[in-house]
Amino acid sequence: MDRKMIVAGNWKLNGDRFLVQDFLTGFADTSFTKVSPILCLPSVYLATVQDANFALGAQNVSEHTSGAFTGESSVAMLKDVNAEYVIIGHSERRELYKESNQVIAKKLSAAIDAGLTPIFCVGESLETRESGAMFDFLTDQLLSAITEIGIAGIDKCIIAYEPIWAIGTGLTATPAQAQEVHSFIREFLAEYDTDIATNTTILYGGSVNAASAPELFAQQDIDGGLVGGASLKLKEFLEICQAAE
Ligand code: G3P
Repeated sequence: MDRKMIVAGNWKLNGDRFLVQDFLTGFADTSFTKVSPILCLPSVYLATVQDANFALGAQNVSEHTSGAFTGESSVAMLKDVNAEYVIIGHSERRELYKESNQVIAKKLSAAIDAGLTPIFCVGESLETRESGAMFDFLTDQLLSAITEIGIAGIDKCIIAYEPIWAIGTGLTATPAQAQEVHSFIREFLAEYDTDIATNTTILYGGSVNAASAPELFAQQDIDGGLVGGASLKLKEFLEICQAAE
């Protein structure tokens, strides 16, 4: 099993160039060996980052490679500004911008074709979880992607399980709740290819903080975190990275 631990920060629509500089300075003398830190910044700041001691990601990308799509960014543009990763299918994109499973699958395909590594987000609402339809819901999200990119495409992705009810709420899934879903995702992928299933990095996202990270990251099928609010606080984000080291 050669899964590397990853801690990715998702700043969402937050931060400024001064905070970017603080993180560049704060990460400059870190030397993590077991965990790979990623910062998914607002795209406008990506080009300002040079020689960072963390990898760069974007938070979205168009499924179109060019054309009359005002306000969008293409995979080529993200690569132009040093992005290696891109979050795709975040619940806020699904909910607020009505991105369907089908559009998300096309975005995954475009990102992979361009050599970017998608951080492919899946996750259920509290209503879906409490209705007992959670695993069917997650299956639909995963199946839609596999139909478009195949299990070979999944092999080029990082998957992030982000229960919608834990995002931004301070209500973190318990380690057992998160492990149950991560194990389900890995078993689902194993139906296609056991090696890819074993080697796929699956992150947990949803109110991860310095206090909850150690027990979450100790779970067998949790390979790190996709961190929102806590990723805007340098000291806490470094502590979360240390918890994965
Ligand atoms: O993409 C990560 C984000 O959705 C989680 O946000 O603030 O609950 O850590 P937060």
